[in-house]
Amino acid sequence: MSTKNKMKTVLVTGGGAGMGQSMVRRFHEEGYQVAALEVVPTRLAETLGEFGDSDRIFGVVGDVSDPDDVTRAVNDTLERFGSIDVVCNNAGILGEGLAGEMTLETWHRVIGVNLTGVFLMCRAAIPHMVAQGKGVFVNTASSSAFVGGGGDIAYTASKHGVVGITRAIAIEYAKQGIRANALCPGATATPMTASYRGPNGGPYDEFIAATPAGRWAQPEEMAELALFMASDAADFVHGAAWCIDGGWTAL
Ligand SMILES: NC(=O)c1ccc[n+]([C@@H]2O[C@H](COP(=O)([O-])OP(=O)(O)OC[C@H]3O[C@@H](n4cnc5c(N)ncnc54)[C@H](O)[C@@H]3O)[C@@H](O)[C@H]2O)c1
Repeated sequence: MSTKNKMKTVLVTGGGAGMGQSMVRRFHEEGYQVAALEVVPTRLAETLGEFGDSDRIFGVVGDVSDPDDVTRAVNDTLERFGSIDVVCNNAGILGEGLAGEMTLETWHRVIGVNLTGVFLMCRAAIPHMVAQGKGVFVNTASSSAFVGGGGDIAYTASKHGVVGITRAIAIEYAKQGIRANALCPGATATPMTASYRGPNGGPYDEFIAATPAGRWAQPEEMAELALFMASDAADFVHGAAWCIDGGWTAL
């Protein structure tokens, strides 16, 4: 089954590292025009540097939780490529803390990036997608969208919320040609989880070994699912929340 989508445009948030960087690479490889929004300028520059003088990629430095940055990213992408066919709402941050101890500052920051950021990007892109009669959102949630986890209440709430946003948009806009789905990764070897891993074993290794797949995922595996969700081959997939977690939530 071919997933070729020549010259479609994708906007990837958090495109400077981890899964977002893998999505940027994979969509570009597949022939997409790619816009990457990233809050850390050096990460963005390093990622863009891989593509030499390709005219199918550019970057925007910005924060998904800032409505002005989101508007700028959408407008710059439209100006540069003329359309936005796919948005990968991938940017996210951790924020650990028990419910009784979490600071309001941590709560607002995690919800602001992980949940409000997804809402802002969808809100900014939807009018354009409605006008062109098509569009796809691939919203990165987590296996934390389905379980309580423990120890990261803001993160867990934000990821449950991403699935909620995704389902709401799928219902509200399917008839206007828009699909929205949530990609729900399990433990993946990215900069986000670097402190949980390690060359001689990290604090999570025993736990990971006990999952059905028994290993960390690689970010490229998430990019592959994102590419499929974005493709016409997934045309009947609306409002889904797909776990890609090595069986972790099946336990
Ligand atoms: N790594 C995992 O095990 C795991 C598991 C489940 C879900 N996720 C989710 O997958 C997504 C990607 O995670 P990752 O592991 O690749 O993370 P990562 O930290 O390795 O990379 C995330 C990228 O997003 C950028 N970013 C962070 N905040 C931003 C903001 N406000 N605006 C724009 N860019 C921002 C970071 O600078 C970084 O380049 C996140 O939503 C995360 O919650 C990760």
